[in-house]
Amino acid sequence: MNYTLEQNMPVAVFDSGLGGLSTLIELRKLMPGEDFLYYGDFANSPYGTKSAEEVKRLAFECVKYLLSRKVKAIVIACNTATSAAAGSLRECYDFLPIIGAEPAIKPAVLYKSGSNVLVMATSMTLAEEKFKTLSQSLKDKANIIPLPCPGLVEFVERGDTDSPELCSFLKEHIEKNIRVKIDSVVLGCTHYPFVANVVSKIVGRDVPIFDGNKGIAKECKRRLEALSLLNLQSALGKVEITGNQIDDKKIKIAEKLMENK
Ligand code: DGL
Repeated sequence: MNYTLEQNMPVAVFDSGLGGLSTLIELRKLMPGEDFLYYGDFANSPYGTKSAEEVKRLAFECVKYLLSRKVKAIVIACNTATSAAAGSLRECYDFLPIIGAEPAIKPAVLYKSGSNVLVMATSMTLAEEKFKTLSQSLKDKANIIPLPCPGLVEFVERGDTDSPELCSFLKEHIEKNIRVKIDSVVLGCTHYPFVANVVSKIVGRDVPIFDGNKGIAKECKRRLEALSLLNLQSALGKVEITGNQIDDKKIKIAEKLMENK
């Protein structure tokens, strides 16, 4: 493929929907001079309840579109798509920095050894090899408790991050499935940091909550630096939010999510 990476190209960030905006927020904090192109695959959201094969196909579609927009790196701001497709995408597009997302279990385990670590993520992320290998490697250090949360992504997609319905949905879900005292929580889906406040209310304000977004931003910066691709402009970079089936309502919700973070 004849494709040249250049410093002034935007960094692409994609997700099944609006969840990846929580990653975009951290990327912008760390690299304010970069231009970003955010893409939500709204027509196919949510990913987490689909098969890995299907999500892989959809992730390739997203990347195909993003390459047509001339981007210099791709951030898969989606744990589910990373589990299903990151390896194959890297093989196929080996000239392109591709940065993935994974549940931030390590910092949670390091926070307190032998503790109960609740990992909230999509059904697919928790069923995939990537999560199994990671939790297996840490199983002697902590009790890792996976909790799939089908239905939660849809609240965030509607822009609902704190309603009484959301609170009772999450409270019931956690109380029904978790019988032990939780010492820390890992939000292993990029949609979930937008509801961290509600999670905190349920598990206790003193329980630390981890997500992988800062780690993704750091890794992205490191990769761009290594390839001399960092945008060195002093002005604030531009952000374009787009996607399939995007409309004014989605844009308004996106703006609200970005403001409240
Ligand atoms: N935000 C995504 C993740 O990190 C996908 C959620 C979904 O579409 O189910 O897993």
